[in-house]
Amino acid sequence: MNNLPRHKGVPIFKSTFPLLGDLLGFPLQQSQKLGKVFRADVLLGPLIYVFDSNWITHVLETHPHNYIKSRQYDPLKFALGNGLLTSDGDEWKAQRKVLQPMFMKDSIATLCKGIEQGTASTINRWKHKTEIPHLNHETNLLAIDIASRCFFGIEAKERGARLAELIEEINHFLMRYLKIPIPIPLSTPLPFIRRFKAARKEVYQLINEVRHMHNNGELASDNMISMLIDSGQFDDELVRDEIITFMAAGHETSSNALTFTLFALLNNPEHFERVKDECRALNLSQLSVDTLKDLPYTVAAIKESLRLYPPAWTLGRRNLEEDVIQGHTIKRDTNIIIPTYAIHRHPEFWPNPDTYDPMRFFGKSERDFPKFTYLPFGGGPRFCIGQHFAMLELTHAIHQIVTHFDISSPTKELELDPLITLNSKTPIHLSLKPR
Ligand code: HEM
Repeated sequence: MNNLPRHKGVPIFKSTFPLLGDLLGFPLQQSQKLGKVFRADVLLGPLIYVFDSNWITHVLETHPHNYIKSRQYDPLKFALGNGLLTSDGDEWKAQRKVLQPMFMKDSIATLCKGIEQGTASTINRWKHKTEIPHLNHETNLLAIDIASRCFFGIEAKERGARLAELIEEINHFLMRYLKIPIPIPLSTPLPFIRRFKAARKEVYQLINEVRHMHNNGELASDNMISMLIDSGQFDDELVRDEIITFMAAGHETSSNALTFTLFALLNNPEHFERVKDECRALNLSQLSVDTLKDLPYTVAAIKESLRLYPPAWTLGRRNLEEDVIQGHTIKRDTNIIIPTYAIHRHPEFWPNPDTYDPMRFFGKSERDFPKFTYLPFGGGPRFCIGQHFAMLELTHAIHQIVTHFDISSPTKELELDPLITLNSKTPIHLSLKPR
């Protein structure tokens, strides 16, 4: 790895500040100067940025046992425990084997009711509004509502509303914690850590209550917590960790994807017209997994927004053992960064990379693009387990929003904020008119 092209930083701090100053732009600019694999050294050690599909295939697909999640995931472990997103090795493998079928077509079909009800409650709330000052707050409520119903089996009104607040508190903690340059122990008596611990305790209690409801036959079976308990494969602690993981991994990503898709459509009227025409022509009496086939342009519009604004804007791995990739020796415990956002905007992979054009995806499948040039849901065996669920949720939300309202927005420019997921610093203002 010493032979890889390297970003020249300054003594001591090396490339730390140029990178921290522009987490999204730095990899893209440097890859155009240094090539598709390069090294940038920061205070914590060397980072290897990879855009090259052979390297990404090696790390994510053919040698995943050697490339575990990087240390950026460590704080997530405090919050999410040892569920699917944060576990590694055999522990991860055993969980994935049991959980995978629960996210296949048939099982997702049982979650459709939760998606429909969660979306309907947002649409009803919006009927009383003419202005939405901060679209992301609303899409966040929508995604938490859907996640509470589908994963937790409870409605947003009662326990769900509290759960939403608690998940927000946990998210808050993660954002603040990740910004602290040196990891501090969780025993540090800081108010935001205390609030996080109290929130986590209450989430645990809520999950316990829901589990008792299930055991007493008081909970419907069309939700993930019932499926997990009924599988008989998870102890109480793991059921709890999986549910928190689904709630956390599945709500902010979806909420941001919905916000960015609406923003992109509102600012590209010709594409928005096509989406509106397609959605308004479909009288959707009942959501099903096949609904995606009925709304191909809307699906393409979402995929294109996931290209320009991938919620998981970077993926990180580190190797357990020394390795050789494409003739380069990679020392043990090296951080490999797969910069999804920058890959998705690389001009060699995407002509006119900054232009929003759903036609790139219309009538195409991911296999039509060069491997690993489009990876909003990751790749290899650890690809997003919630991918189909998310696409269904997003497509349904857009269908319902445009069939119930005429929407417009004065927000033309966004300042992006690469937090745990990609966010917008700029609040997106929305005006609503019922149709
Ligand atoms: C637009 C929405 C979503 C996006 C963009 C997204 C993106 C991703 C990505 C990129 C990964 C791979 C991370 C890595 O390799 O380091 C991932 C993993 C994961 N996602 Fe999603 N996700 C979304 C929605 C969801 C939903 C709705 C769920 C709900 C269950 C979910 C649950 C998970 C879990 C549990 C993992 C870990 C999988 C594993 O390691 O085996 N995601 N997601």
